[in-house]
Amino acid sequence: MRRPIIAGNWKMNKTVEEALLFFNELKDLVGGVDDREIIVAPPFISLFSAFNVTKNSNIHLAAQNIYWEKKGAFTGEIAPAMIKDVGCGYVIIGHSERRQFFFENDEMVNKKIKSALEEGITSILCVGESLADREKKLTLSVVGTQISSGLKEVLAEDMEGIVVAYEPIWAIGTGMTASAEQAEEVHLHIRETLNQLYKKEVADSVRILYGGSVKPDNINELMAKPNIDGALVGGAGLDAKSFAKIVLFK
Ligand code: 13P
Repeated sequence: MRRPIIAGNWKMNKTVEEALLFFNELKDLVGGVDDREIIVAPPFISLFSAFNVTKNSNIHLAAQNIYWEKKGAFTGEIAPAMIKDVGCGYVIIGHSERRQFFFENDEMVNKKIKSALEEGITSILCVGESLADREKKLTLSVVGTQISSGLKEVLAEDMEGIVVAYEPIWAIGTGMTASAEQAEEVHLHIRETLNQLYKKEVADSVRILYGGSVKPDNINELMAKPNIDGALVGGAGLDAKSFAKIVLFK
C-alpha cells in the first residue's frame, strides 16, 4: 500500500509571521492524523521558524528548490545540506514555474535530484505538459521524457527517495483542474514508464501526486483513482482550514 501524501506548495507567499500563524493553526486541525503524510513547502526564509513549530508534529517540511553544489560561490543559491539542517526531509524539484521562469531543464532537474539523494532528502519531481502539448496529443511523450531524463542514473535502490508530482501546466492556478480521468491516464503512464526504467516493485511503490487547482471539493474524486496517491496543492494550501480539509480527504 502506498501511503498518501498531501503537500502544500506556498510558492512566493507569506512572511515568517504569517507562516507561524499557519503552522500553529494547521497543527491543531490535523493533529493525530497518521495514515497519510502531510508536507508543507514554505519559502526558504520561513523554514527555520517553521521547523521549531513543527518538529514534534506530523507536519513535514519541504523546500521549494535547491542548488546541486554542496557550497561555494553561488550567490543566491541554497545547498541540500542547508535545507536538511532546518528540518526539510523533502524538496520540490523541477516545478513548471522553475522550468518556465528560471529556465530549468531536465539536465538541471536531474543534477538537483542526485544532490538531494546524496543528502538523504526526498525529491518531489514535478512533471507536466503545456496546453499546446496536450492539444498536439504530446502529453504522454512529454511527461515520459521528463521522467526518464529527470531520473537519469538514479538507481532502483534510491527510488525510495523519489516522489513524482504530475502537474499539467494548464491546470495550475487556473481553476481548470484536470478531470480525475485525465489525471489517472497520465499517472498510469508515469507508472508504466517507471516500470520500464526500473522494475514493477519500484513502479508500484513510488507515490504519484496530482497538482493543478486541487481544492477541498475535488480531492475525493481524485484520490479515488488507483494511481493517484496524493496531491501537490498551491492556492488552496495557503489557508490552513482549506489545506486541512484537503489533508482530511476521504
Ligand atoms: P494551484 O493549486 O494553485 O493550481 O497550484 C498547483 C501547483 O503548482 C502546486 O505546486
